[in-house]
Amino acid sequence: MSAQIIDGKAVAAEIREQIGRDVAEFSAQSGVTPHLAAILVGDDPASAVYVRNKQRACENAGILSTLHRLPPETTQADLLDLIATLNADGDVHGILVQLPLPSQIDEQTVLDAVTPLKDVDCFHAENVGLMVQGRPRFLPCTPHGVQQLLIAAGTQVAGAHAVVLGRSEIVGKPMGMMLVQRGAAADATVTICHSRTKNLAEITRQADILIAAIGKANFVTADMVKPGAVVIDVGINRVDDKLVGDVDFEAVKEVASAITPVPGGVGPMTIAMLLRNTLTAAQLR
Ligand code: GUN
Repeated sequence: MSAQIIDGKAVAAEIREQIGRDVAEFSAQSGVTPHLAAILVGDDPASAVYVRNKQRACENAGILSTLHRLPPETTQADLLDLIATLNADGDVHGILVQLPLPSQIDEQTVLDAVTPLKDVDCFHAENVGLMVQGRPRFLPCTPHGVQQLLIAAGTQVAGAHAVVLGRSEIVGKPMGMMLVQRGAAADATVTICHSRTKNLAEITRQADILIAAIGKANFVTADMVKPGAVVIDVGINRVDDKLVGDVDFEAVKEVASAITPVPGGVGPMTIAMLLRNTLTAAQLR
């Protein structure tokens, strides 16, 4: 039997509409329009598209967005200066530094420089620490989007064995931490796998919920998936000008009970959760 296809585009559209209503209510009460400042360094075409999509989503939700576009040869000092200016600007509520950054810039130094109160990506150590302790200020956008998809799909997460493939700071690590928290779309038993994991397929076959975030096209094959598992594909890989996920979608959908497509799965959810964090940042000011 073919899996339920989890329509991230539709779920994200509904969440964005709700955020739009929440923004309108907040702005009417406070007289403040939430404002996201996005920084794009260099001319990576994929990053430019992601940032444009984020800006468009902001505008549709009533959130002001400004783009700071810097040339590829920008120095770390110049980027840190801009971040300091935006940190101090009372009219800016959220700051997003689009990754990756050019090689002359140390990503960690830059992300550490964003004031935690405007850190809408939830990359800062203070915000990651608060999240891990179960008292989040912001939630990281992609893992939060995955949780919302699990809720929308009606997945039983409490008590389930969730296997996360990948230990990146953006997705894998925070995803595991969030699934192990108490609460909605959480309370799972979590295994995080990575490039040094032994007997990977043996572990993935135990997953009730399998989340792939390793950045390898079609890596998860049907024999790695337990029949009836829920499979969430975070990967976005370009193969012959086509976007494919980390999961061999056509084969795995015949084994899984529910699966996200690429595109149209997790991607739109990341943007919706960014909007939520930007509103939260404006409310915190
Ligand atoms: N590059 C890829 N994903 C992300 C993300 O979630 N946030 C930022 N800032 N850059 C990214």
